[in-house]
Amino acid sequence: MKQVVVTTFGGVENLQVQTVTDPHPDPNEVIINLTSIGMNQADLTARRGEYRLSSGEPPFTPGIEGGGVIAKVGGAVTNRTVGQRVILKLGAPAGIGTYRSQFVAPAADTVLVPDGINDVLIGALWLPFLTAWGALVWRQNVQPGQIVLLPAASSSVAIAASQIVKQRGGITIGTTTSPSKVEALQNLSAAQYDHIIVTSDTAQPWWKTIKQIAQAEGKRRGVDVIFDPVAAGDFLHHEIRLLAKGGTLWIYGLLGTPGTVDVSPLIRKDAAIRGWLLNSIAGTAAEAKAYAHILENVAAGTYQMPIAGTFSLDQVNAAQTAMEKGTHIGKFILRP
Ligand SMILES: NC(=O)c1ccc[n+]([C@@H]2O[C@H](COP(=O)([O-])OP(=O)(O)OC[C@H]3O[C@@H](n4cnc5c(N)ncnc54)[C@H](OP(=O)(O)O)[C@@H]3O)[C@@H](O)[C@H]2O)c1
Repeated sequence: MKQVVVTTFGGVENLQVQTVTDPHPDPNEVIINLTSIGMNQADLTARRGEYRLSSGEPPFTPGIEGGGVIAKVGGAVTNRTVGQRVILKLGAPAGIGTYRSQFVAPAADTVLVPDGINDVLIGALWLPFLTAWGALVWRQNVQPGQIVLLPAASSSVAIAASQIVKQRGGITIGTTTSPSKVEALQNLSAAQYDHIIVTSDTAQPWWKTIKQIAQAEGKRRGVDVIFDPVAAGDFLHHEIRLLAKGGTLWIYGLLGTPGTVDVSPLIRKDAAIRGWLLNSIAGTAAEAKAYAHILENVAAGTYQMPIAGTFSLDQVNAAQTAMEKGTHIGKFILRP
C-alpha cells in the first residue's frame, strides 16, 4: 500500500509517497481501502511544523479524516463485512494519519455510510460539518432569527455552517477576503449565505455594512453569534464591536494576523469569546448523534459540500500547493 510521509518540517517537497507492506487486521480490526481523504488546513500547518500538537515530530503521516470500503475484517469482528462503506470516527486517525491507501482501525471506530452519499465525499464530511454542528448546535444551540456571522465564507467549515444555521432558521452573513469568489458563492446551493461581504471592500468598511444589515434585520444591537477562524488583530477588534448584547464569538481557527485588540466592549455587552476544538465532542453522547445527523442530511441532499479538486496520493504535493494558494471553494480530496 501507499502512504504519504512528512520527512522533515517545511515545504511540499518534504511530502514523500512511500510503498509499504499491506496491513493485516488484528481480531477486532478492519482494513479499509480509503476512497476519500478530506484535506484540511491542519495537514498543511502540521507539515510546516506549526502544529506539532497534532503531528509530533517527523516522520509522520498527515491527515485527520477519511472514508472508504472495507477490504478485510479481523476474526472477531461480527458487525462489519467486506465491501461495506465506512467513515473513520473522529479519534481514529490520531497519531496514524489518513494520507494512505489503506487504513487499519478497530471496527468500533468506523461509522457505516448510507446509500446516497458519493464515494468521493465520504472522507471529507466530518471536519466541515462536525466542526460547525458541534459549536453552533451542540454548544451554542443557535435559535431561529439569530444573526450568525461566518468569516472565511468560501472555507469548507463556513459553507457547512451556513447550511446548519439556515436549517435552524438563523440569518447568515458570510465574509470573504476574496472578491473573485463572491459570484461563485452566490451561485452555489451549498453556500447558504443571506449576505456575503467582502472584507477588502473599499467603498465602505466591512463592519459598517454588517452593522447596517443587522439593523435592517431588526437586531439593532448587533450580531448574535460569530463563528470565526480568523480571530486576530483588526478583524477581531471589529468583530467584538459587532456583537449583540449577550452575544458569543467562537474562535475555531487562527488564520488572521495577530495585533492589538481592545476587548473592553465585552464588558458592557455581557458578551463572550469562546474557543472551539472539534476533538472535544469525541467520546461524548453527542458524537454519535452528530454523525447520524450529518449522514442523514448529506444522503438527503439537504447538506452539500462543494469539491474544490481531487488528487491521487501521488499528486499530494500538487494538492497541498493548490490548497495553499487559497483560491478554492470547498474541499480538496485525496483519492488513493
Ligand atoms: N477548531 C476546530 O476544531 C477546527 C476544525 C476544522 C477546521 N478548523 C480551522 O478552520 C479553518 C478553516 O478550515 P477549512 O478546512 O474550512 O479551510 P479551507 O476550506 O481551506 O478555507 C480556507 C479559507 O480561509 C480564508 N482565509 C485564509 N487565510 C485567511 C486570512 N489570513 N484571513 C482571513 N481569511 C483567511 C480564505 O477564505 P476566503 O477567500 O473566503 O476569505 C480561505 O479560502 C482553518 O483555520 C482550520 O484550521 C478548526
